[in-house]
Amino acid sequence: MRINQYIAAAGVTSRRKADDLIAEGRVRINGAVLMNPGYHVEDGDIIEVDGRRIEPEQKKVYYLLNKPAGYVTSTADKEGRPVVTELVPDEVRVFPVGRLDYNTTGLLILTNDGELSNRLMHPSHEFDKKYLVRAQGIVTIAEAKRLREGVDIGGFVTSPAEVELIRHDRNSTIAEIIIHEGKNRQVRRMFKAIGHPVIELCRTGLGNLTIGRLAVGQCRKLSPAEVEYLNRF
Ligand code: URA
Repeated sequence: MRINQYIAAAGVTSRRKADDLIAEGRVRINGAVLMNPGYHVEDGDIIEVDGRRIEPEQKKVYYLLNKPAGYVTSTADKEGRPVVTELVPDEVRVFPVGRLDYNTTGLLILTNDGELSNRLMHPSHEFDKKYLVRAQGIVTIAEAKRLREGVDIGGFVTSPAEVELIRHDRNSTIAEIIIHEGKNRQVRRMFKAIGHPVIELCRTGLGNLTIGRLAVGQCRKLSPAEVEYLNRF
């Protein structure tokens, strides 16, 4: 088995990120830093990542977390900020699939299934991502239409999106938006492009998975049907 596949199957991270670990010299085979990203693991090889020995396969676990604001979507943060993996039981090491911004709340999948994560993050498998947004000011019907048709978020014009204006008060608008792409900070950049910066952002759905009544900061295991659904991709 190729080394990046082995690391992903062991639940350390996705295959793509395993390649980064190798490039950064953080992977050792039998005590020596691995230089060849195409290395095939042999029986008896001792593999270490960041000095920690990794074992071949682990029981696969899948969590759905309602991420709170003020958490980094990562397994560790250089600045010492709270990270999302602190919010799931530590029966095995898991990592987040995709990312939500530090101040975004809502649906986030965490797993140790590197292969699944790898497939879900591939650009050819863009899920519908549903967000509830509170934006500054009153978003007009014409501005919502612009969001639907595509806006320039700085060198990139967004693909058609679904947008529903739910209600507004004197200072802000609540809207629901479904996008099919996942550019960095895309929803925030889209609302900024129409002159209504985002105040609060919550991801409520990913494909047919929904956050439901899960409280902020809580997680639950995915049901077998939900895991099967994700495995179809
Ligand atoms: N779009 C954003 O702007 N932020 C997120 O966290 C997710 C989507």
